[in-house]
Amino acid sequence: MTGDKIPQRKISVCQPYLGGREMEYVTEALKDGWISSSGKYVTAFEEEFAKYCGVCHGIAACNGTVAIHLALVALGIKSGDEVIIPSFTMIATAAAVVYTGAKPVFVDADPLTWNIDVNKIEEKLTSKTKAIMPVSIFGNPCQMDEIRLLARKHGLSVIEDGAESHGAEYKGKKVGSLSDITAFSFFANKNLTTGEGGMVVTDDENLAQKCRYFKNLCFPLMGPRNYVHEDIGFNYRMSNLHAAIGLAQVEKADEYRKMRMHNADLYKQFLADVPGIVFQKDTQDSKNVHWMNSILLDPKKIGRNRDQLIEYLRSKGIESRRLFVGMHHQPCLSKAGCDVSGQYPVTENLTENGLYLPSASNLLEEDIRYICEQILGGLHV
Ligand SMILES: Cc1ncc(COP(=O)(O)O)c(C=O)c1O
Repeated sequence: MTGDKIPQRKISVCQPYLGGREMEYVTEALKDGWISSSGKYVTAFEEEFAKYCGVCHGIAACNGTVAIHLALVALGIKSGDEVIIPSFTMIATAAAVVYTGAKPVFVDADPLTWNIDVNKIEEKLTSKTKAIMPVSIFGNPCQMDEIRLLARKHGLSVIEDGAESHGAEYKGKKVGSLSDITAFSFFANKNLTTGEGGMVVTDDENLAQKCRYFKNLCFPLMGPRNYVHEDIGFNYRMSNLHAAIGLAQVEKADEYRKMRMHNADLYKQFLADVPGIVFQKDTQDSKNVHWMNSILLDPKKIGRNRDQLIEYLRSKGIESRRLFVGMHHQPCLSKAGCDVSGQYPVTENLTENGLYLPSASNLLEEDIRYICEQILGGLHV
């Protein structure tokens, strides 16, 4: 390879930021010998994260996907039921519904916020619908008043997939306190991470107890351990080592949130008013925590298509990614018997023309400036 082909910088699309007491807490857990799911950090992490969300109960799990499954099981979602989800989301949202035997039913995204289009939910409800599962996509809270109103009108539960939105707010309340039950992910690229991990949070004591019961193979929550199990449960426990990282992360949650939001402001500033580049819209009611800074390209206004831009950025040492593929295009969901017919034009557009830009909390301003300069340089070549 010739020297001039080697990019001068390498900026990954995301990386974890471990800027607090992670090492200290993990070391302590190791020294104490508490490396499985017993140990003080699991409880401390659950309590602190629930408090951060503004709710009473946190139930740690080993990843975000199973946290959603656990929440659905606690709500009693089962075979024959339907759950409304956005068509524009990550596959885990739909997969968790399929695990229960229920069917996910898709609703297209709103063209501005890229969240579930609340005006299109009602037409998808049937006598089998049991819950609505909004996803605060890329950290942008959904229009929860409208969603809760619809749920109340039709007697449905609201279970939020908050995997991407730690600390995001709607009308001054945090994601986690806006629904009957909410599931988070702490995967390595999330605003708060435990490496792999998840948590269910809720204010409902009964739902919390069910989550604790089902996540631990349905061992009785009280009384002697007699190894008699009334129900089939799951081993979705989080280890004390992961929770040690999680506690250190929650202690810094506000700081990390600010960093992520500041990065988003810089992207918007450096790419302001560029014809052909559209950002996800925050509503007046919400605080988007910008898990991933994403842009949508208008191919008619720019000289390159999305994949060409991704390739161009790669040649400049910048990693970017395509956005999610819509649920109606997922072969696994078709094979699982989900209805993948219907039109989802907003999702189609996001899938074809959207990309993630580097979004780690600790990106430097000069990195973001460099990325934006390369985008501008690469758009009309
Ligand atoms: C919207 C959404 N839901 C669920 C998940 C699943 O979380 P995990 O990877 O921790 O299983 C993710 C992960 O990125 C996600 O983005």
